[in-house]
Amino acid sequence: MSLSILAGSAHPALADAVARRLGRSLVENGLERFPDGEVHVRISGSVRGADVYVVQPTSPPVEANLIELLLLADAGRRAGARRVTTVIPYFGYARQDRRVHAGEALGARVVADLLGAVHVDRVIAVDLHAASVEGFLAMPLEHRSAVPLLLEALRPLAGAESVVVAPDLGAAKLAERFGAILGLPVAVVRKTRVSGSAVEVRGVSGEVRGRKPILVDDMISTGGTIEAAVRAVRAAGARPGGVVAASHGLFVGPAVERLAAAGLERIVVANGVPPVATGALPVERVDLAPLLAATIEELHSGEPVDDPPLSS
Ligand code: R5P
Repeated sequence: MSLSILAGSAHPALADAVARRLGRSLVENGLERFPDGEVHVRISGSVRGADVYVVQPTSPPVEANLIELLLLADAGRRAGARRVTTVIPYFGYARQDRRVHAGEALGARVVADLLGAVHVDRVIAVDLHAASVEGFLAMPLEHRSAVPLLLEALRPLAGAESVVVAPDLGAAKLAERFGAILGLPVAVVRKTRVSGSAVEVRGVSGEVRGRKPILVDDMISTGGTIEAAVRAVRAAGARPGGVVAASHGLFVGPAVERLAAAGLERIVVANGVPPVATGALPVERVDLAPLLAATIEELHSGEPVDDPPLSS
């Protein structure tokens, strides 16, 4: 079975880098938007009988990128692909993995069902907001993590006087993982979300006084969580500056101004979403292409995949 890599329009540079690592060119396809707003896709290269991988993060514009991903998977199947795997380096809607208030939808479940509806055989994802999203997927998931890459970039910036900070309770497990590997203590900021872009802090658990904060989270969206956490740890006596590591750097809305005001030394994110303008922010992007290419290679060749489950 031949191997074919397809790219949507969300992040063709990453898809191309993955394809090149696998010694392939991207399969040609045309993406067009009809005057009424509909997305139209057409695979012009041949994928008949192939093992097809569609690379597309569902980053902003989320709905357009999601529908493109679904249409490409469907087009691949209808063009005779033997197996279709979606490679989703950032899985939008994963934060809607549970209902916080009555009347809400379970967005992550709906997206998982849509992948099933177009008969996706397998999903490759990176650092899902919640590992529980796997339970919504009808097909097997290969869940990969950018954490080893983030750690490598962070290591030279983390001295013995640092503290790993979870900016909310949801990131506590991740912070424990960073803390254990870096041999550093961990603190947790007690955050409550007030709206999609506003958060409130109720305090900090753990000792941060005199220490340099290393804040870790799965994603930076509007920057509100990091901004509030930096303010809280500084109020608790942490040193100015500090470093942030997050798998997904979306930097939407007021993120750039918020993070600039936080006076951070470095913001390390993975390149699973396309880079947006971040002005003078000290952003470093670690490259997911080798990890994604290796995962595809393993799946394609049928070799055993030995990445440990994230929830362990
Ligand atoms: C929340 O549970 C997530 O882990 C992130 O902390 C959050 O999504 C970041 O969003 P923002 O940057 O808008 O505060």
